Amino acid sequence: MLQKTCRDFADNELIPIAGQLDKNHTYPKEQVKKLGELGLMCVDVPEAEGGTGLDYLAYAIAMEEISRGCASTGVVMSVNNSLYLGPILNYATKEQKAKYLTPFLDGTKVGCFALSEPGNGSDAGAASTTAMLDGKKWILNGTKSWITNGYEAEATVVFATTDKAKKHKGISAFLVPKPTDGLSLGKKEDKLGIRASSTCNLIFEDCQIPQENILGEPGMGFKIAMQTLDAGRIGIASQALGIAQASIDSAVEYAAKRNAFGAPITKLQAIQMKLADMEVKVHSARLLTWQAAVLKDKGLSFTKEAAMAKLAASEAATFCAHQCIQILGGMGYVTEMPAERYYRDARITEIYEGTSEIQRLVIAGNLLKEYGV
Ligand code: CAA
Repeated sequence: MLQKTCRDFADNELIPIAGQLDKNHTYPKEQVKKLGELGLMCVDVPEAEGGTGLDYLAYAIAMEEISRGCASTGVVMSVNNSLYLGPILNYATKEQKAKYLTPFLDGTKVGCFALSEPGNGSDAGAASTTAMLDGKKWILNGTKSWITNGYEAEATVVFATTDKAKKHKGISAFLVPKPTDGLSLGKKEDKLGIRASSTCNLIFEDCQIPQENILGEPGMGFKIAMQTLDAGRIGIASQALGIAQASIDSAVEYAAKRNAFGAPITKLQAIQMKLADMEVKVHSARLLTWQAAVLKDKGLSFTKEAAMAKLAASEAATFCAHQCIQILGGMGYVTEMPAERYYRDARITEIYEGTSEIQRLVIAGNLLKEYGV
């Protein structure tokens, strides 16, 4: 039922406008509000906390369908659900939840997640942003980069070093409302894809926040970030699946109507080979993604499985979008058809929330651990 609801929403409310939102770099405010009304901005937040109360498998299914319609809207939904609400749900106090969780459930407010910096993305433990305790206030200094939802977010989870000597064990997580004195925004990045979502730097200059805005205990920040990214990778895998599926849908629809050598090109084995490879990659990546979600739902370890899902799904998305353009030929290369947008949108899924290279490191590290090596 959830899949059908999301499918209908994507078909009716997203597909007709996704190209225009992308072209004009327009944030999908109305659509995000409607996602909120459908309960899709807080899918796995328990009902007792005011959320929709579904599980991560449901979230993965919903994310794929929404991203099939518009990958930009998908990432806005993903960041709010997994990167912002996720750590708050797991680590915030009752008072923090009242301020930073409850108002962010219905799509009227969105949050963001600030971990990467200009000098460290993959090396997340090397945060140079600092937070110093001064009386009853934390004072934050530094720049966070590549922040999805950075412009629209009305609060952010920020990771900053509170004790440099302790390296990653000296990183802490904080809740920062937006706007706040001492927090300014960098320029809106002009991106290759997911152009309807905003990305910018968050610049902290003697930004003061109350002492009670620390999330979890001092020094827990790296662990919170890693756990959050494990879950976030299921969201991005699902976003990638949506782009991949949209590429298959578009390729089949076009090929069924396009004639060459006296018949629709779906009759050509050259096209069928491509469609078969696309389908196998998407189907296998979907099974990996759903398996990772089910493990998470059962409270079992899912770090390796989430990394495998994100790796497979993001590579499936770039492969399928590439093949979709190949099947459409010239029509795939122009903005009249959505294939070129799928191709541009797919690319980021191999980069954010851990590059494909980082996913391989996580997979190999966990595999070797299983062998006791
Ligand atoms: N869950 C819980 N704890 C974890 C963990 C996990 N998944 N992974 C590692 N840890 C713990 C380890 O157990 C270890 O703990 P101890 O110190 O107590 O032993 C500690 O963290 C350090 O582990 P590592 O030595 O493995 O850490 P590392 O420094 O080598 O880094 C890494 C590992 C996998 C490379 C990690 O830094 C990483 O995932 N990097 C990529 C970061 C990333 O995905 N960035 C994307 C930013 S978000 C984004 O894209 C923005 C957006 O808006 C969409």
